Order: sequence, then structure tokens, then C-alpha cells
Amino acid sequence: MNPNVLVLLQWLGAFVLLVAALTWVRWLWQYVCLPLQAQTARLSQRYGAGSWALITGASDGLGKAFAQQLASHGFHLVLVARTPSKLDRMQAELQTQGVQVRTVAADVSNPSDSTYAPIAASVQDLDLSVLVNCIGTTVHRRYTDIPAASLRRLLAVNVHTTATLTHTLLPALLRHHAATGHRAALINVGSIVGRFYWPGTQLYGACKAFIDHLTVPLAFEYREQLDVLSFQPTVMSTAMATGTEPAAITITPEQAARAALSQVGHVVSSHGHWRHALLAAVFALLPAGRRNALFLAAALEMGEAEKAKGE
Ligand SMILES: NC(=O)c1ccc[n+]([C@@H]2O[C@H](COP(=O)([O-])OP(=O)(O)OC[C@H]3O[C@@H](n4cnc5c(N)ncnc54)[C@H](OP(=O)(O)O)[C@@H]3O)[C@@H](O)[C@H]2O)c1
Repeated sequence: MNPNVLVLLQWLGAFVLLVAALTWVRWLWQYVCLPLQAQTARLSQRYGAGSWALITGASDGLGKAFAQQLASHGFHLVLVARTPSKLDRMQAELQTQGVQVRTVAADVSNPSDSTYAPIAASVQDLDLSVLVNCIGTTVHRRYTDIPAASLRRLLAVNVHTTATLTHTLLPALLRHHAATGHRAALINVGSIVGRFYWPGTQLYGACKAFIDHLTVPLAFEYREQLDVLSFQPTVMSTAMATGTEPAAITITPEQAARAALSQVGHVVSSHGHWRHALLAAVFALLPAGRRNALFLAAALEMGEAEKAKGE
């Protein structure tokens, strides 16, 4: 072989190895080092001690875990969900931690002004520093098997609500920065399903891809004032993921929320927990045909569990 070509190949090989090593180091930093660091002082110092966080979907699952952890970091809370009795229980539980808690009961499957107005009104007199858009809903079926009402509900809850509340509440976050000099945080919850084309849950995947494409550009538009995280977890043991228990891939919502809070302000987009990031990396390496077959089989199985629950 021509010696010049050999030298070129050696340089190319060294470059590829360097890029792989840097990618791996960054992965370890994001998914292993950051979650190991204590967050209490960091979050309250960064976003302002005694400021308020609004969390949607806060009465259960991941939203509840975000609320509990933000309360433990000293943030006062506005909790938004559908069922008043669950919100009341959460309010009583969190107030014992010495934080103030407001609740707003709203069914966001009705995407009208009258649904969102009370949510906007709830923060008007508050110093809002953190917004977690966590409400979400899913359906697992072949596309034509999705009832029309479910299709409308998914678009209202996942797409319309995330876009509207981000638009409505962003000015409050910017006011917080202007008034206090502290940064504000926006965490929009998507899903790994939004990162891949996912047969069997194509509509949910499209909604979650929408959330990612809405969220990430805001990190640049408001880079002086705002920390933005497009959070894309995998399976968590919540009501939404019917029948799943913590296991190799399935983590608890508390683990997921802790990972997200450790990364906000450091990265713009994340799967949160290292196990979920590893799974996403494995999925990305699979040939598309194999991945599609796996996804469809898993989605249809979850669809059967949903049907059994009457969804
Ligand atoms: N679970 C998973 O495996 C998984 C994986 C990836 C991403 N995610 C995403 O993570 C987020 C949280 O999921 P989760 O599993 O924690 O869900 P979950 O346990 O089912 O909790 C859903 C929360 O959203 C509220 N909610 C649902 N529909 C609503 C509506 N129409 N109006 C108002 N509130 C409504 C519920 O309120 P009520 O209790 O009052 O009904 C509850 O507080 C979602 O965005 C989901 O897409 C979940």
C-alpha cells in the first residue's frame, strides 16, 4: 500500500477513536457523574430559594415524583392534574415538608381557553422559577384501531397542552429571571418513543417528537435566562405503563425525576437515567427492520393491557 495512504488511514483511525472516547466520556459525565452529585443546594441556588415550581400531571407517577423532589429542595409548588381528591392528598402530604402548595384541577383533554385560564391565573402573583410539563397520555394500537376520541385526547393532552402551557407560562419564568437575576427552568417531558419511528404507538411517538422539537430550540432562544430540558425517559413503573414493575429497564418515577433534575442546566436533551440512555443507544444500533418488529410486538402487547383496563 502507498505509505501516504497508510498514514492517512492511521490518522483517520486515531480521529475516530478520539471521537468515540470523547463521546463515551461525555456519556459517563451526563448519565453517571451528574446524578451522583447532591442537588439540594444546586437547584435552590440556581433557580432561587423559596421560588415556585409548577408541575402538571403532579398527582401521580413521574409528575408526583418531580413535585416531591422539588419540595424536598425547598420549592413552593403549584400542582396541576385532573382529579381534585388526589391533588388534595398531595397538597396535604407536601405541606408537611414546610412548603406552600397550590392546586389546580383541570381536565386538559378539553383544550379550551377555559381549561388553561385557571392554570395561568394560579401563578400570576407568584415568583415562578420552574415549569415541568409532565402531563401525558398514550395509546398502543395499529393506527386505524385507535378510536377517534382517543386520537383527539392524545393531541389535546400531549400536543396542545404542552404547547399552550409553555407559551402561557414562559413569560412568568422570564419575569423571574428579570426580577431576581436567577435562571429559570423549563422541563418538558417527552419519551424515548419520540426519538424513534415506533410502529404500534405511532401517534404517541409523533406527539412526543413534537414536544422535543418545540422544546430544544427554546434553549437557544432564551439561553440568557432559561435552562431547558427535553426529557425523554423510557419505561417507568407508573399507571401509564400498565403492569410494569421496576426491573432491568423499568425504573421508578423517583429515579427518573432525580436523574432529570440532576441534568437540567447541564444538558438540553436527555433520557435521564443511565439505563434508559443505554437502551436508547442499543435501539439506535439495531437494524430498522428488527427494531420495528420489536417495537410493534411490545406496543401491541401494551395495547392489550390498555384494552383490559377499558382504555
Ligand atoms: N410511564 C412511562 O413508562 C413513561 C415513559 C416515557 C414517558 N412517559 C411520560 O411521562 C409523563 C408522565 O407519565 P406517567 O407514567 O407518570 O403518567 P401517570 O402515572 O399516568 O400520571 C399521569 C398524570 O397526568 C394527569 N393527567 C392525565 N390525563 C390528564 C388530563 N386529561 N387532564 C389533567 N391531568 C391529566 C394525571 O392526573 P389524574 O391522576 O388526576 O388523572 C396524573 O397526575 C407523560 O408525559 C408520559 O408520556 C411515561
